[in-house]
Amino acid sequence: MKDYINEPDKRKSLYGKRAIKDFGLMPSLKGVMSDEETTGLADYLYHKYDK
Ligand code: HEM
Repeated sequence: MKDYINEPDKRKSLYGKRAIKDFGLMPSLKGVMSDEETTGLADYLYHKYDK
């Protein structure tokens, strides 16, 4: 998750071709979010969201 925020790449995508064909590749957020923020976000999404 943290890697994809900074370096989206079609070879890493698990959604696959359909999402990329319809929406394009996600823009890189490199420099926009700090390491602390991406860690906190990934922790939230994996462990706290919907609980
Ligand atoms: C911190 C915010 C964000 C997070 C955590 C995030 C996370 C992700 C993840 C995990 C995927 C799936 C990759 C896969 O296929 O395995 C994805 C796909 C995608 N995201 Fe984001 N994203 C964020 C912000 C954005 C923003 C700001 C945009 C557009 C303005 C965007 C557009 C897309 C699109 C179009 C895809 C599907 C195509 C692709 O896989 O590149 N995302 N995102």
